[in-house]
Amino acid sequence: MDRIRIIGGNELRGTIPISGAKNAALPLMIAALLTDETLILDNVPRLADVALLQRILGNHGVDIMSAGKRPGDHEYQGQTLHISAKTIVDTTAPYELVSKMRASFWVIAPLIARMHEAKVSLPGGCAIGTRPVDLLIMALERLGAEITIDGGYVIAKAPGGLKGATIAFPKVTVSGTHVALMAATLARGTTIIDNAACEPEIVDVADCLNKMGAKITGAGTPRITIEGVAKLHGARHTVLPDRIETGTYAMAVAMAGGEVQLSGARPELLQAALDVLTAAGATITVNNDGIKIARNGAGISPVTVTTAPFPGFPTDLQAQLMALMTRAKGASHITETIFENRFMHVQELARFGAKISLDGETATIDGVSKLRGAPVMATDLRASVSLVIAALAAEGETMVNRIYHLDRGFERLEEKLSACGANIERISG
Ligand code: EPZ
Repeated sequence: MDRIRIIGGNELRGTIPISGAKNAALPLMIAALLTDETLILDNVPRLADVALLQRILGNHGVDIMSAGKRPGDHEYQGQTLHISAKTIVDTTAPYELVSKMRASFWVIAPLIARMHEAKVSLPGGCAIGTRPVDLLIMALERLGAEITIDGGYVIAKAPGGLKGATIAFPKVTVSGTHVALMAATLARGTTIIDNAACEPEIVDVADCLNKMGAKITGAGTPRITIEGVAKLHGARHTVLPDRIETGTYAMAVAMAGGEVQLSGARPELLQAALDVLTAAGATITVNNDGIKIARNGAGISPVTVTTAPFPGFPTDLQAQLMALMTRAKGASHITETIFENRFMHVQELARFGAKISLDGETATIDGVSKLRGAPVMATDLRASVSLVIAALAAEGETMVNRIYHLDRGFERLEEKLSACGANIERISG
């Protein structure tokens, strides 16, 4: 299994190109199941999760062609996928595939909407909490699907097709909103999603669905309205830049010091995180090419942060912020409100000499003047990258084990960081 070795202490200087957002690319690929015409997606990141979803969609009979690089394309440019779900040969998504990636459960929405039936294994995914699917099932039931659970599978049937309805989510859920949105595009009549997630990835998917002929208004607000249509058609769409990757590299620069241009980043996608970084002592400048982040000389100031749905501080940047705060001058407090078990990085950060105590949902981080490199490993994607951030500022060598989590969500992480001066390399085997 591959590992990453980092020798800490180098500042970061240069440019990091930001890839397309994983958490938009995945639902966009799934949305291709809604039409028998081709959906072309540009700027799709080259990630293990994307490759796995290609296999899962292939199992349903979806044809995916990945266009090669064109002359003039930058080496970091995302790939273009031509996705054609002309014929759906199987409406079952098996355990072996769905258990590897939670988001693949979302195929249930286009399958029930277009084929009026679906059998999808209950999902797996990162070890960050129980992560149920009750609200996704509730949304499909509201749209008229009959749902049973048998042998670990969710079996959905809607013999006459789905019918528009009001879906009021009792809590903000990204997965629930994606599923309701996709399913409602082909439902008869009007659907209203109340307390919808406002994440930029929801807006990106809604934009793409509208290009495919859907009638969606209000995406990006807590109330989304969908007028169902009989059929969707092909379209071409560019995946928006990854705000979590952007925030992760911004935290890495704040940790290591230096100055880096995050090329292609869009500040409005992560304003809450940029505000926290400014409070922590980083200098952020927005320019035509994206965001420049710098920390020269000044130390890291402690912050108090609570994760929240968009536009709040994202849970997907909580571990990275905690890594940064291990070197702050004073005590920081980070409260996690989205996932109940998303503190698996705490014990790993302690291996560097970090001082973190947990009290329920809140972590208190007492900044230390020095971190020491150590062998570490992590159980989820964002936790893994928090260890890389800590390692960049730690004295000596860190070996990050089990990096398949990193490959799920960060494209060419070691190349992007080493191009800016980090001493980081992948060790194969
Ligand atoms: C998405 O997960 C992201 N995944 C996560 O990113 C992200 O952390 C999360 O949204 C929050 O922003 C993708 O987009 C592929 P939720 P999702 O439904 O949709 C509870 C990463 O590292 N809930 O908004 O699964 C749930 O347990 C990943 O890239 C129910 O109770 O998150 C959680 O407490 C990790 N019942 C809360 O809602 C349900 O039926 C929010 O979950 C569904 C969710």
